[in-house]
Amino acid sequence: MILKRIHLSHFRNYSDASFEFIEGINYIVGKNAQGKTNLLESIYYLSTTKTHRNVSDEGLIQQNENYFRIDGVLERKQRRTDLRCIVSKQGKHLFVYGNPVKKISDFVGICNAVLFSPDDMNLFAAPPRVRRRFIDIELSKLSKTYLSYLNEYDHLLKERNAYLKNENISLDFISVLNQRMADCQCVILRQRSRFMHDLIELSHQFYQYLSNDQTKLEVVYKTFVDLTLDDEALKQAILNSYDLTFQRDCLCKNTEKGIHKDDFVILMNGNEVNEVASQGQKRTILLAMKVGIVKMIEKIIHDEPLLLLDDVFSELDSERRTTLLKILPKNIQIFITATDFIDEKFDRLVNKIVIETRKEGGM
Ligand SMILES: Nc1ncnc2c1ncn2[C@@H]1O[C@H](COP(=O)(O)OP(=O)(O)OP(=O)(O)O)[C@@H](O)[C@H]1O
Ligand SMILES: [Mg+2]
Repeated sequence: MILKRIHLSHFRNYSDASFEFIEGINYIVGKNAQGKTNLLESIYYLSTTKTHRNVSDEGLIQQNENYFRIDGVLERKQRRTDLRCIVSKQGKHLFVYGNPVKKISDFVGICNAVLFSPDDMNLFAAPPRVRRRFIDIELSKLSKTYLSYLNEYDHLLKERNAYLKNENISLDFISVLNQRMADCQCVILRQRSRFMHDLIELSHQFYQYLSNDQTKLEVVYKTFVDLTLDDEALKQAILNSYDLTFQRDCLCKNTEKGIHKDDFVILMNGNEVNEVASQGQKRTILLAMKVGIVKMIEKIIHDEPLLLLDDVFSELDSERRTTLLKILPKNIQIFITATDFIDEKFDRLVNKIVIETRKEGGM
């Protein structure tokens, strides 16, 4: 699948702008604050109906305007799909071929995209919720089952925490919630740990190509139960941990144990990446992970996602830059932003897009 073109109206610093893209590498170059990241953000929005940056939908509307609109034209095996997002202060409206889409889940994933953003560099040092969010976003692209169990678990957890605030607690009702939450967690735990294991195994290969060394990458998935247990024993272990923390849960009026506290650690030659890796090594690991996710999407759901690489060359030495360009998957559409052209001779078709925007809205 490729994104042929995009039209932005009142999106961030773009009043009214159109871009045409090619099948290979689209190299978006411009000085600081010209709108390179904004352009990638608009593509990511078309994919997920969310921004990857820490801002509300309203923050994406151009200053002094009331709405933004993103129109994208996709092409998959010569079949064209038109996507449109219109967001105003009143809400979000999504369209496929001009027809309104009722459920966001019917829109998300039509245009699959994997994004590398400089903000991802926080992944290793950030609090565990950032790493859980990473798994949830990426794994949801691969498994609708995962997403539906995760939504159900989140809903049950809220219900359990709200119920714990009552004066009189029915043990029967708590037990029904515990049972269902344990079922959801068994599925979520298996999928999360398998996903991280497979992802790091794949990323390990790309990391070795990129860095040209024998560094070994491994992942440890951290949770509250023993994952080597079989399904039945795993469910029982979850239920036992609810029993053990029940008094505490009633006192604190929230649920102590569960996959909502999980975390993972990536190890480089046995040591935590966050403690030993240089900036360039962290960036290389993240890049390898993003390429790994692309490969998993291709293998598991037979889709060719867009790869969005924002400011990817900073902190990489020239050797790694060249190797990165070489190992980028050949069959998918790629968007790279940078502040300069790079000297390396591409042996692939590259569409150079220079962005120079007039300052509008005076931000
Ligand atoms: N809602 C908005 N309305 C108008 N302009 C906005 C809005 N949000 C962001 N901007 C402007 O967009 C510009 C930043 O764009 P962007 O982050 O895409 O830059 P960039 O080209 O990626 O820069 P860098 O090379 O520094 O990463 C800034 O000038 C900012 O003021
Ligand atoms: Mg930027």
